[in-house]
Amino acid sequence: MYVKNIRLINFRNYYNLSMDFNKRINIFIGKNAQGKTNLLEAIFMCATGRSFRTNRDKEIINLNKSQAYIGADIGIGESEKFIEIKLEINKPKRIRINKRELKNQKELYSGLNIVAFSPDDLKLVKGGPQERRSFLDSEISQIKPVYNFNLSRYNKILYQRNNLLKLNKFQSNLEELLEVFDLQLAKIGTDIILERKKYIEELSGIVNTIHKKLTSDNENLNLHYNTNIKILENKLEMEKKYKEDLKNNMSKDIDLGSTELGPHRDDILISINNRDLKTFGSQGQQRTAVLSIKLSEVELIKNQRGHFPVLLLDDVFSELDMERKNYLIKSFKNMQTIITTTDSIDLKGMEGMDKSIFYIENGQISKQY
Ligand SMILES: Nc1ncnc2c1ncn2[C@@H]1O[C@H](COP(=O)(O)OP(=O)(O)OP(=O)(O)O)[C@@H](O)[C@H]1O
Ligand SMILES: [Mg+2]
Repeated sequence: MYVKNIRLINFRNYYNLSMDFNKRINIFIGKNAQGKTNLLEAIFMCATGRSFRTNRDKEIINLNKSQAYIGADIGIGESEKFIEIKLEINKPKRIRINKRELKNQKELYSGLNIVAFSPDDLKLVKGGPQERRSFLDSEISQIKPVYNFNLSRYNKILYQRNNLLKLNKFQSNLEELLEVFDLQLAKIGTDIILERKKYIEELSGIVNTIHKKLTSDNENLNLHYNTNIKILENKLEMEKKYKEDLKNNMSKDIDLGSTELGPHRDDILISINNRDLKTFGSQGQQRTAVLSIKLSEVELIKNQRGHFPVLLLDDVFSELDMERKNYLIKSFKNMQTIITTTDSIDLKGMEGMDKSIFYIENGQISKQY
């Protein structure tokens, strides 16, 4: 799968851009604040419908304008998909695929698969559980669109339950009302947990092999799913137990004014040689682990969707040593890769590969060759 071309109108610092991509490697060189990350953000939005930088769509529209547009042609095998996003100040965004307006985001996820990697992804290891949950959510949604739908339902019900716990604490039929929510939380929560468990198991199977190669067999990288809900073989039994546990925890929840049990408290424990990476890992080890995880995502998407995703690399070369950089470059041969860098020295190691080089300056892109 690959991005054939993109058209941007009033998207951040791009007033009017239309450009074609190389099917293989695309390198964008530019000084700071010229529009490198903005370009990747536009491609990311075509895949996921949202930005990796903000939840407020209006920030994306050029400061002097009131509307913005992204249009991208995607090649998937022999077929083609045309993705369009229209942003307007104070209106919800509109997404069209092949000129047909999207009713929900499920369809969009099956359009364009991407794996994005930037220095900021170190937060996957160093950040709080929320970072790892959103990583899980966005990756699973790419592979299994219905997951995203379940997740927003879960969050909506959880929000209502928590509101009830906070605001109607002394209502006489509080427990009955809570039980109505619990029934739904247990059902949808079980689905979410089982999907997360499956994803982490599949990822674990790949990640350690890659990580060993990156560390000359010295390190074992392990991912462990941590949830406060009991996982049972039988799904119905699990739902039942989940619901009982919610009920048993009810008075504590009422005291706390929030729901203690459920996938909204999940985490992934990441360890190297059986030691917690967040606490004991060096910066370099943490960075390598993130690279291993990203490259595993690529494999997983390939296995599950039958095609390679598009790889977006925002300024990551300067942070990797030669060995890791070369390993990363080797993985490009199979897929379209879109790379940004401030320094053309980063191109070392890519001689002889099928690539196009572009310069970005103040929201304008020019092709070198
Ligand atoms: N809504 C907007 N309207 C106009 N300009 C914007 C908007 N949002 C961001 N910009 C500008 O876009 C410019 C480029 O941002 P971008 O993050 O793409 O830079 P970059 O090339 O990735 O730089 P760096 O190398 O520092 O990461 C910045 O100068 C920023 O002020
Ligand atoms: Mg940037």
